[in-house]
Amino acid sequence: MRAAPGSPATFSLDGQDVEFQAGETLIEAATRAGRYIPHLCWHPDFHPHGSCRLCTVKVNGRAGAACTMQAAAGQEVQSDTAELNAQRKTLLQMLFVEGNHFCPSCEKSGNCLLQATAYQMGMEGPHFEQFYPNRPVDASHPDLLLDFNRCILCELCVRASRDVDGKSVFAIGGHGIHTHLLVNSDSGRLGDADMALGDRAASICPVGVILPKRRGFAIPIGQRRFDQAPVSQQTQGDGDS
Ligand code: FES
Repeated sequence: MRAAPGSPATFSLDGQDVEFQAGETLIEAATRAGRYIPHLCWHPDFHPHGSCRLCTVKVNGRAGAACTMQAAAGQEVQSDTAELNAQRKTLLQMLFVEGNHFCPSCEKSGNCLLQATAYQMGMEGPHFEQFYPNRPVDASHPDLLLDFNRCILCELCVRASRDVDGKSVFAIGGHGIHTHLLVNSDSGRLGDADMALGDRAASICPVGVILPKRRGFAIPIGQRRFDQAPVSQQTQGDGDS
């Protein structure tokens, strides 16, 4: 369906019109309009990756990722439904048990997109059995700590290091349940990689994997980003940590 000449093209998101520009994805247009679609691996500054599936919506009744689907005039998009939110909660619960996420002791608590999205979806417990994987931290870099226990494989650090920093410090390796974040250095340790505190990759992590040293609790718990307002009210809030 085409928009009438001179009128902006729109699609319907949960019953309300959202204007979009040519080439925008559903989540880009929704975010620009101040509407929230849950997401983890999407960031407005980077090409979509389409891996976490948190942003799955129904477009004219068919499921698709809002971060990769282009907006088109007349689409009927459903996002905030009991069915889709239940699926999102299940995805979140699986992410929590795949890694080691101990929010009360994590210095990213209150600034963590995974935690904030879990609150948003009403997740009250992990539901599934914990995997408790063995993932040693890498403290070899003078200014940055890598805690692989919290990685959700969003690849934002991979994209930021490659596309912004021009360094490709990070990569994803392995298969299936053994898929994991890698550091591109001879030793595999961050201290031997070409990584600096000011790199975009150092501040892009939406969870608590890449952390600047000696700053952990500079902002007290209770005054952090998602302590101020839930993630659904911070649709422009995918700024770096
Ligand atoms: Fe769309 Fe992750 S935000 S798949």
